[in-house]
Amino acid sequence: MLVNLTFYYGKILTCAIILMFLGSDKMQKPNMIEAQKRGHLKTKVLTNDYNIPSDMQSYGVNKKYYIETYGCQMNVHDSEAVKAILEDMSFTNTKDLSAADLIIINTCAIRENAHNKVFGKLGQLKNLKKNNPNIMIGLCGCMAQEEVVIDLLFKKYQWLDFVFGTHNIYKLPFILKEAITKGELVVEVWSKEGNIIENIPFKRDSNYKAWVNIMYGCDNFCTYCIVPYVRGRQRSRRPNYIMDEVQELIKAGYKEITLLGQNVNSYGRDFIDQNYDFADLLTDISKTDIDRIRFVTSNPWDFTDKMIEVIKNNKNIMPYIHLPIQSGSNKILKLMGRRYTKEDYIELFNKIKSNIKNVSISTDIIVGFPGETEEDFQETLALVNELKFDFAFTFVYSPREGTAAIKLKDNVSEDEKKERLYQLNKLINKYALANNQKYLLQTVKVLIEKQDVKTGLLTGYTETNKLTYCKGDLSDIGKIVLVQINKVKTWSLYGERNF
Ligand code: 5AD
Ligand code: SF4
Repeated sequence: MLVNLTFYYGKILTCAIILMFLGSDKMQKPNMIEAQKRGHLKTKVLTNDYNIPSDMQSYGVNKKYYIETYGCQMNVHDSEAVKAILEDMSFTNTKDLSAADLIIINTCAIRENAHNKVFGKLGQLKNLKKNNPNIMIGLCGCMAQEEVVIDLLFKKYQWLDFVFGTHNIYKLPFILKEAITKGELVVEVWSKEGNIIENIPFKRDSNYKAWVNIMYGCDNFCTYCIVPYVRGRQRSRRPNYIMDEVQELIKAGYKEITLLGQNVNSYGRDFIDQNYDFADLLTDISKTDIDRIRFVTSNPWDFTDKMIEVIKNNKNIMPYIHLPIQSGSNKILKLMGRRYTKEDYIELFNKIKSNIKNVSISTDIIVGFPGETEEDFQETLALVNELKFDFAFTFVYSPREGTAAIKLKDNVSEDEKKERLYQLNKLINKYALANNQKYLLQTVKVLIEKQDVKTGLLTGYTETNKLTYCKGDLSDIGKIVLVQINKVKTWSLYGERNF
């Protein structure tokens, strides 16, 4: 059952259904026990639910919107939906904040510093609103799904015009209409995940590379992570809708797609009427004419041999895997609720390396998790020394309200956390450079995306996801070209276009 919570500035409107469901008139706080009770409800696929009230279709004529996005690829892709919806209402895009009639901030909740950046931004926007009360300002994304944030917005940010959650994007035309007619803060957040809406449009940032959602939400509940609470339970998109989207992208000239999900290897596990898994989806997509297929994120559990076989045997599936390890200590992995040991990870890593030719592997690592001793941290460094990742995203643990880890005693000092992050980054950079050095004098395939403003060089990514620069003609943009590498840095390759 879905609960639609619509709050209004100064008063909170609730209805019987909310009281029945939540037992209170407040939005549901992220709650591990409640969230884990959610089970495998049947997900409804709705194909007509995005629409625009007739009086809103031309509301944006002569009006400009500005959107700022924080966080992961999922948020970037959600913003592509918000843009398309606004353009369906006749708004045009501006990159100039001061020229905007409508401003939307798409937020991230994963770490405290993501929160802080958004609240900093809101401070700046408050002044804009003061000088020009006609500007409409809204907030959406993961922070909108957090009770603590909603409470704060009511207390201190009532000057905002509207707030909507991650499940409510397709309702934006109605939310905006309500905010305009009421002239009050409108908050529409569903505390439980929505159905799958299949007719949401996207205004894609690139003409060559596209994100394709294959699933929403996450059922893993790693103890540090807020995502299962703000994005809801796992709901996989039906394969036919994904295939249709891929075919449309091919027709529109796209060269590369990235399949998006919090844990793509568990794609399809929530289907109750068919046996169809991520390897099946990869197989079907690889049979199309798309040049490049990527996917994020694949976790170390459920990474099947069938998946490895499919990746190995299909040239259009890129040899690049993002495989978050999080820690090199089994004690910490257990506390994090990750379902593998260091040994399991190493075995999988080596299996992928030995089966998929020239594969590059990146990872995510958190330092300073509660209980992480110097010995635990040394185990993480030892693991990096053993596996020599191509790249890693590294983070200091950030306690999140409502997650299981918040109850653990945070016994690592701030100085220690900073020092560990510094040590880890030094090692990660060393191997990033060493891995790049293997590319010297090699010829690689690069999908050219744009001209770099600073250097005038063309830039794009290799099959193994290495950022590459080369001289070339603007007509190369959108093409896959051969580049011979003659210089490497820690984060990029440089070369000459090979004809
Ligand atoms: N603190 C620090 N890092 C986190 N991540 C997720 N939650 C937290 C947190 N509370 C990191 C994990 C994950 C990546 C997307 O963000 O490494 O893989
Ligand atoms: Fe968070 Fe773990 Fe789900 Fe990734 S798999 S989104 S880290 S809970």
